[in-house]
Amino acid sequence: MTMSVDEQRLTEELDALAAISEVPAPAVTRVVFSDADLRARAYVKSLCAAAGLLVHEDPVGNTFARWIGSRPELPPAGTGSHIDAIPNGGRFDGTVGVLGGLEAIRALQRGGFHPRRSIDLVIFTSEEPTRFLIGCLGSRLLAGTLDETAGEELRGGLDGSSLNEVRARAGFRGPLASVRLAPGAYASFAELHIEQGPLLERHGNDIGVVTAIAAPASLRIFVEGEGGHAGAVLMPDRHDAFLAAAEIALAVESAARSSGSIDTVATAGVCDIFPGVVNSVPSRARLDLDVRDIDQARRDEVLRRIEQACDEVARRRGVRFRIEPINADPPAACAPEVIDAIVRACEARGLGYERMISRAYHDSLFMSRIAPTAMIFIPCRGGVSHRPDEYASPEAIANGTAVLADTLADLSA
Ligand code: GLV
Ligand code: MN
Ligand code: MN
Repeated sequence: MTMSVDEQRLTEELDALAAISEVPAPAVTRVVFSDADLRARAYVKSLCAAAGLLVHEDPVGNTFARWIGSRPELPPAGTGSHIDAIPNGGRFDGTVGVLGGLEAIRALQRGGFHPRRSIDLVIFTSEEPTRFLIGCLGSRLLAGTLDETAGEELRGGLDGSSLNEVRARAGFRGPLASVRLAPGAYASFAELHIEQGPLLERHGNDIGVVTAIAAPASLRIFVEGEGGHAGAVLMPDRHDAFLAAAEIALAVESAARSSGSIDTVATAGVCDIFPGVVNSVPSRARLDLDVRDIDQARRDEVLRRIEQACDEVARRRGVRFRIEPINADPPAACAPEVIDAIVRACEARGLGYERMISRAYHDSLFMSRIAPTAMIFIPCRGGVSHRPDEYASPEAIANGTAVLADTLADLSA
């Protein structure tokens, strides 16, 4: 079968999707269930329908666009990613896997390929944790790794509304329990994504074949001190909640840096101070932390050291603290059969590839619980991601899309 990717059309579609944003270009912000997210969903669904795919959505808004195979009773081969984007993010994170996935299907259609298994393009809801604090919301529910009752109670509206209220307003109703898929619902899953790191570019390789996905954990730390007048409270008498939080943030950095491995990373991405005015000593502070490693035991050791640091800082500064775990997921190992299909595709096309781990998390982390899963990475300039200057060249995207198309052909045959 001769099969070629329409690089120009894919570039135009990525441009059109990037223009659907809550902020001016080049930044992209598309928070789940925002007006921009809903318009982006409508755009992608219209492209899927135009390609003859059968589109359906589940109660949390995961969207499935199916190319029906000659044996529709068999579990499909899956691909896909996400179209939500963090505030002030870039245009390629997630979208390459969605529009590249669609173009892979169209390329196979144009090449006259007829799949035996159906091929599903999945657009997952809220891969980013921006709104509900928990990443991969849609794929967690699909894999049954988020308790549905806890899911119903997640809060994420600016007005404090619940996931149930927010999704109902966006037009998605029905019990979250019905989102869960049975193990085996997919025969395989392959996700195309930008690397979000510098290695492919540095090594001059076209494709990263992902063999494992790092284990992310996130948590909130609430610190309660004592507020007061910024002029009147004497320095020795203070119990400043922000300064305690700042010391904890530094302890987070040092716990990650001294883990003994470059694979350990930890970030304090949010620090919220109350009352947050210049002439009042902060009485409350909140840190949101993200801790990751490819080795779960080493990551969990960092979590323990953070808790110890909280204890020590709280005692010394006379403040109280509370830790609220958000998630602590195990790493995923990718499936040899999907890895092998990707490697065969790279070799057949003469593309340079290397095996690598994913330090970022992806919906594949959860799809791997219910289906043999692997990922295809493409280089992005300078390894930059989660920033407006995130960039992947049309050629790199076309390479990844072609490898995905070959992989899907292989896995759906
Ligand atoms: C996904 O966006 C991540 O934070 O790894
Ligand atoms: Mn992201
Ligand atoms: Mn992503």
